Amino acid sequence: MAILAANWKMNGSLALVQAFADAQSYWHESLHELIFFPPFPLITPLQQALPNQYIGAQNVSDHEQGAYTGEVSAVMLQEQGVTHVIVGHSERRQYYGESNNIVAAKAIQAQAHGLVPVICIGEKLSDRENQITNDVLALQLQALVDAGVTLAHEQCLIAYEPVWAIGTGLAASPEDIAKAHLFIHEYIAQRSSATALPALLYGGSVNVTNLASIIAVPYVSGALIGGASLKVDEFAKMTQMLSD
Ligand code: PGA
Repeated sequence: MAILAANWKMNGSLALVQAFADAQSYWHESLHELIFFPPFPLITPLQQALPNQYIGAQNVSDHEQGAYTGEVSAVMLQEQGVTHVIVGHSERRQYYGESNNIVAAKAIQAQAHGLVPVICIGEKLSDRENQITNDVLALQLQALVDAGVTLAHEQCLIAYEPVWAIGTGLAASPEDIAKAHLFIHEYIAQRSSATALPALLYGGSVNVTNLASIIAVPYVSGALIGGASLKVDEFAKMTQMLSD
């Protein structure tokens, strides 16, 4: 069963929640595992609208609690019934200066409080052009290993999101995705003591047209979908596409 993760980013409204509620029949019939990541204020409305689906958050503090104005802790999310949290999205790394160490600390917080972190990694266009994609991925993964993040099945998800593919309409090719996912799989396999490794998602301009070819790639267990997850009809079609 493939995982379809919908990252709404700073988009959406109560009207969009209602539109997804109205399309419920699609979600009930889906053979994919669906995880929705709305902005914080829409978490509770979406939980009520889609009671049978996983609802995640897009961010979590790297601290346990305290004087961190504007932050939300893992324990608060867990109390609210949130199941997953995105950490290390490239927009957080780029616009909010989140380092590999901060991303790892967020993943640690999430796991300490029973949330599944969806840890995003990926190279920038300049990294790709300089042919250092694997070096960048290795640094991002090694920070998780060094911090003691549990890299095991159902304890986290790893999303490979090449930065140049996010929101550009230009998804990575199945060949590029295959190379990156094999590298990530082997890197984790050599460093994790887990018997079952985390599922790997691909993200970056996934849509109804390219989804099937992407989830057919070895070591791709699903997709993290931004723009296309805001279009109810398109997302509904994706939930009806079977991968297994
Ligand atoms: P996109 O975003 O599907 O709009 O490219 C993916 C993401 O940022 O997670």
